[in-house]
Amino acid sequence: MSDHTHEPVVIRGGTVAEAAWSAPADVFIAGGKVTALAEPGTSAPPGTAEIDAAGMLVLPGGVDPHCHVGFTSGDFTSLDDYRQCTTAAVFGGTTTIVDFAIPRPGQSPADAAHAQRAKAAGGLCDSALHACVVAWDDTVPEQLRSLVADGMPTVKMFTTYRGETMADEDTILKTMSTLRDLGGMVVIHCEANHIIEDTQTRCSHDGRIGAEHMAATRPELAETASVAEVLAIAESLKAPVYFVHQSTPEAVELVAAARRRGLAAWTESVAHHLVLDDGLYAGPAPERFVCCPPLRPRPVVDGLARHLATGEISTIGSDHCCYDVAQKQSRRADVRAMPNGLPGVETRLPVIFSEFVAGGALPATLPATLPVTRFVELTAANPARANGLYPRKGTLMPGADADVAVWDPAARWTITSGALHMATDYTPYEGRAVTGRPRTVLVGGRVVVHDGVLTDPEPRGRHLRARPFTPRGRCA
Ligand code: URP
Ligand code: ZN
Ligand code: ZN
Ligand code: ZN
Repeated sequence: MSDHTHEPVVIRGGTVAEAAWSAPADVFIAGGKVTALAEPGTSAPPGTAEIDAAGMLVLPGGVDPHCHVGFTSGDFTSLDDYRQCTTAAVFGGTTTIVDFAIPRPGQSPADAAHAQRAKAAGGLCDSALHACVVAWDDTVPEQLRSLVADGMPTVKMFTTYRGETMADEDTILKTMSTLRDLGGMVVIHCEANHIIEDTQTRCSHDGRIGAEHMAATRPELAETASVAEVLAIAESLKAPVYFVHQSTPEAVELVAAARRRGLAAWTESVAHHLVLDDGLYAGPAPERFVCCPPLRPRPVVDGLARHLATGEISTIGSDHCCYDVAQKQSRRADVRAMPNGLPGVETRLPVIFSEFVAGGALPATLPATLPVTRFVELTAANPARANGLYPRKGTLMPGADADVAVWDPAARWTITSGALHMATDYTPYEGRAVTGRPRTVLVGGRVVVHDGVLTDPEPRGRHLRARPFTPRGRCA
């Protein structure tokens, strides 16, 4: 076990922002935990180190609910390990990641989870894991029971990627039903595979299957259809369900309507679907933007972003997948063979803060900016809640782990891949001018990043045991 204790710290003079409130306060830390939030200027015991946060926001470190580390799919493996991914995460103000234990063909969900869990100790910050079920057999219920008991109550499923991770409806129903009784939850990627395969086949006959045609090969209605089907299963079972990377307002609205009917249903969006649009597929390097679901047309992006303000989006993840340009280019002529996914664990918080808190890019029908409290809710508190990690993570209330992003809300900078730390040679946000970035990042009360320098490279990452759900499912 690494040592998580160290000298006491006070973060002074900043504005603390939680999901529910923000106010000037000093944050006292000891033994790796927040011990008190106090009136500004409260005296500290001798030997307490001080971090000056004047003019800064003091935020709970970000919790990224959707992050693929060293992810193998098809012929490709994304290029990072826990050390690299979490180094990039902390530079971007994220101090907890939730990764996926996706079984390789023939591997059981439990074996995949145990193999991936062993890697957490290489991280610079803590991590949790979603398990994953692809196919049903008699051993799955007992595996799910032990996974939930072992701190992995969330289980990823896919309605697409045939031959890799796609599960059929029976498997989804049985997994959801079993998890409901165990206090677990299915976390699901919804795109109707039959519609996508048929669309891809027709596109390929017309010679429209290269990266520049990505958006057309995975239509919005495939997402809507699959979300509706999975919601019907969840409602019939009264089982909680979490939809990952929802990319259209229609999909979000289906989930919101089910929530209004009483279902414990969560919507995650990811940063690139809220900011980037499918015009990038017409640009010089369309392969760099190939992800599933694909980037959508601008009106769809704006419609999705509108739900940030209405509250119908529960969490924002990154869907971080660290492929490099050579990997992305190698199969660019056929999206069916390409590595899907974009690097983003480091840029998630700065891009979302800049667009929606500092810059005010929300559609004109809504207030021009999101309050910083909503930013914290979407990027830290709700991801922690949805993953059984709250209130240890996602908050700075006394007792929480002292994972903190001291955030400069006025810093203006330009995103360039050379200045980032992800294990790749490009960023989808190359050249983008943004406002806001972390100045000092603490993990377990230790300063790991300050002014763009890694101050503590020691891997102290722990695999977090997530708490199971209440019978009706946790809800924000
Ligand atoms: O394109 C994506 N999103 N790749 C990663 C795997 C997944 O579907 O989340
Ligand atoms: Zn330790
Ligand atoms: Zn996915
Ligand atoms: Zn993903």
